Amino acid sequence: MVELGHHGDAEVGPGLVDLAVNVRQAPLPPWLADPVAASLANLASYPDPAPARAALAARHGRDPSSILLTAGAAQAFVLIAQAFRGAALPVVVHPQFTEPEAALLAAGHRVHRVELPPPYALDPALVPTAADLVFVGNPTNPTSVLHPASAVAALARPGRILVVDEAFADTTLGVDGSPEPSSLSGRSELPGLIVLRSLTKTWALAGLRIGYALAAPDVIARLSAVQPLWPVATPALAAAVACASPAAVAAEHAIAVSLAADRAHLVSRLAEIPGLTIAAAPHSSFVLLRIPNADKIRLALRERGYAVRRGDTFPGLGPDFLRIAVRDRATTDAFTRTLSAVVRDFTP
Ligand SMILES: Cc1ncc(COP(=O)(O)O)c(C=O)c1O
Repeated sequence: MVELGHHGDAEVGPGLVDLAVNVRQAPLPPWLADPVAASLANLASYPDPAPARAALAARHGRDPSSILLTAGAAQAFVLIAQAFRGAALPVVVHPQFTEPEAALLAAGHRVHRVELPPPYALDPALVPTAADLVFVGNPTNPTSVLHPASAVAALARPGRILVVDEAFADTTLGVDGSPEPSSLSGRSELPGLIVLRSLTKTWALAGLRIGYALAAPDVIARLSAVQPLWPVATPALAAAVACASPAAVAAEHAIAVSLAADRAHLVSRLAEIPGLTIAAAPHSSFVLLRIPNADKIRLALRERGYAVRRGDTFPGLGPDFLRIAVRDRATTDAFTRTLSAVVRDFTP
């Protein structure tokens, strides 16, 4: 039985190098830390999301009525599952992050799974025409596949809510190095589209819980109607304002460029290990591996100080998969040396 509630943070522990959680490991820059710290002086007031809404609307070229601040992208899955309880055929495109399906099940939906075959490219024709609530991740966790914007947009149609989880969109680059080549965040003309964004990954704010949804104002109003009162705290809203600034967006792009170099380094080191394959061409801050005995290898890596993400809890994968976070080159070199030795131990 696949455990939808399993996450990388369950794999980490004291003394382990964390390659299991896809949150960037970096101190907060002052332009982000300072407003968050300053917001602590205003905690007597209830939070006001208006400045963050306006800032994020400007960042994506949308109207503020098209933005809903959420306590991480994860809260948005719950809001969508609740707001669209009447959906007749909710579809989750797997392999992907498990929380959309968990939220749908918790809200009483009967979920239809579409499992993409390797190399996990999105074929819009696999989604049933009757699907009226569709969840797809882009780039997709755990495969690190980036679907073309055209393939994702082809899923949008009147009478359907299309949820595109872009939690990792800022980590992606086009072939020409341009930022976020597949993002639909500015596509206000696509019917029923909800784009979800997270600020917890690149900006290392997983503990602050900050994300947002972009959608047509009537859809935002439906999500807002099922959201708890004051769902996003004042420090998280301060972070959202800071992360929406042009300088922050430029910094995100620079991070994506250096991430691409670190990922290429990881991929070249992994390619040197016999018996291991990279399951799909990676475009985000993690890489999916296919390797026999992955379950045993994962435990052996733990004994040698490395936490990696098991792949078997993702629908559409299986026991032969591991997901590895992209880290700095020194960490990658030390890890891949250890992995190589462990794989040798398990090779007959
Ligand atoms: C693909 C994907 N979407 C959304 C989330 C949730 O992110 P947040 O921290 O913004 O709730 C995660 C967290 O792991 C994720 O991997």
